[in-house]
Amino acid sequence: MKDVDTYDLSWDDWDELQSPRPEENGFDAVVEAAISRRGFMSGVLAFGSGAAVMGTSTLLSTTSAKAQAASRFGFTPLPIATDGTVHVPEGYSWKPVAKWGQPLFSDAPEFDHAVGGSFESSERVFGENTDGMEAFQIGSRQVIAVNHEYVNTKINLPQNEGGVPASAEDVRKLQNLQGVTVMEVAEGADGWEIVLDSPLNRRITHNTPMRIAGPAAGHDLLKTDADPDGLEALGTMNNCGAGKTPWGTYLTCEENFNGYFGSTDEDFKRPDDYLRYGIGLEGRYAYEKFDPRYDVSKNVNEPRRFGYIVEIDPSDASSTPVKHTALGRFKHENAAAVIAPDGRVVVYMGDDERGEFMYKYVSTGVYTPGGETSTLLDEGQLYVARFNDDQTGEWVALTPEATDMSEAEIAIYTRMAASKVGATTMDRPEWVAVNPVAVEGYSALTNNRNRGVKPNAGGDDTAVNGPNPREMNHYGQIVRWFPENDDHANPAFRWDLYVMAGNPTVHDDAYGGSDNVNEGNLFNSPDGMMFDSTGLLWIQTDGNDANTGDFEGMGNNQMLAGDPATGQIERFLTGPKGSEVTGLTWSADRRTMFVGIQHPGAPFPDGEGKLPRSTVIAVKRDDNALVG
Ligand code: FEO
Ligand code: CA
Ligand code: CA
Ligand code: CA
Repeated sequence: MKDVDTYDLSWDDWDELQSPRPEENGFDAVVEAAISRRGFMSGVLAFGSGAAVMGTSTLLSTTSAKAQAASRFGFTPLPIATDGTVHVPEGYSWKPVAKWGQPLFSDAPEFDHAVGGSFESSERVFGENTDGMEAFQIGSRQVIAVNHEYVNTKINLPQNEGGVPASAEDVRKLQNLQGVTVMEVAEGADGWEIVLDSPLNRRITHNTPMRIAGPAAGHDLLKTDADPDGLEALGTMNNCGAGKTPWGTYLTCEENFNGYFGSTDEDFKRPDDYLRYGIGLEGRYAYEKFDPRYDVSKNVNEPRRFGYIVEIDPSDASSTPVKHTALGRFKHENAAAVIAPDGRVVVYMGDDERGEFMYKYVSTGVYTPGGETSTLLDEGQLYVARFNDDQTGEWVALTPEATDMSEAEIAIYTRMAASKVGATTMDRPEWVAVNPVAVEGYSALTNNRNRGVKPNAGGDDTAVNGPNPREMNHYGQIVRWFPENDDHANPAFRWDLYVMAGNPTVHDDAYGGSDNVNEGNLFNSPDGMMFDSTGLLWIQTDGNDANTGDFEGMGNNQMLAGDPATGQIERFLTGPKGSEVTGLTWSADRRTMFVGIQHPGAPFPDGEGKLPRSTVIAVKRDDNALVG
């Protein structure tokens, strides 16, 4: 074990510990330079000069926003909170729908706080760390598919000292608590509840068989002793954000898959792609000690079978999920799918790691309602984003000609392919959202303490650039792009920054944020992001909730709503201390919004003496009016 308690680290911090970047020598000196006035100014100038070319500011102009009242927001903005529960505006209320460990089937017992839920039932209950989700109307049933990103072993294995997994059974329990839940929900007199034993209820775990599809299917790099054809993987992991296809299936996105693998042979020499993807010699949950599949000294290709987007049919609990390698392999955050004017399917995606990239996939075939859809996510072109400082940009095709790699290699070693074409290093792209009422996309660039400090794991320069204009960026920003000719399939776009988070009460420079940030809506680290059907942008945060120093006045993590037209942003919901607010979807009648509360630090929602439980809550207006 390392000399810090790794079970309390964020994935971002854990990655840094596990796989420090080679350029750490002289780190202090570099930091010193970065925080000096001169270092900072070079950042501002980088985007200032680009803005001059356009004759406008890189930032959204919000003068009109200030002149307008809170016209688009049907709520009174909420103050910050620092306590252990959820708050919503006056006239709204919330209630838990699904808590970690809650039975999906009547053969599972009620949650036992003493043991963090039983091992025997761990595959039959709502999983841990709720994250991205989507709702589906299937016949007369309402179904939510929801991700379970990772585990918190101290509460999942409370009887183990330090929460350290100590047996194959412990590891299996953790594997069962992650993945995806598909659950039918219904609204009754007491609000929304899980429909126990619904034929659509399903758990997908780290051991569920999946079909591998697309250009990498059957490639030598995906073959293992257990799967010599390289066509069937077991499990999906670190399921972070989500997406929905036009044909009504769920997309779940494999993010920090690297952290589950380790080596029982300490002399195992990691291949180059392991270094780029942060695959280390010691896994986060000791899987490799008790489940040989995760031991890279025995299965060098196993990690190469993760890091994809997986499609799940929520209408058939016996369907086999499909890993779509054409969408690339990286730390997938979410998937925002949209139809181009000519019917092709466009999927926007971010790679959430400091200095990694943003991607877009465009199908070869076109979508027609009720038509054949089986190849739309397997046959198409993957692109990576290049942002120019003059507020133009292009999606660069990752082709064999451009990368000197085969289509299969591009699908498996996507980060390396993107580095070869000079993609723009980003400040950790989290969720992408596409406006349903205007042709524009948004990406939450959550933060990046390495901006301007050191290269990414592939050695790509991370000096400040247009959409990432602040060194050691600890607040984050949201970039927005406008596809040329109002066509999401078009490779050309213009861009601006919708918001730069910051703290104007502490800083009077760019770290004070853009002018649509004010004392009433302070936040940091935008992460989850969804548009509602009216075109209001909902922003969820996963940031520093210490509420002191640079983060004073921001309080707990939260959900805000933003008006794309005016830039106005107002706070709608605050989460319990220690939690992240992540995951959002709506009931079919749009009178309920379902919101995810991940890893609360307080004993939420069951109260004192109980374990904290990640929970999906339902938020409604007391007058039952529409909420999106
Ligand atoms: Fe799982 Fe990048 O958040
Ligand atoms: Ca996230
Ligand atoms: Ca995050
Ligand atoms: Ca998280």
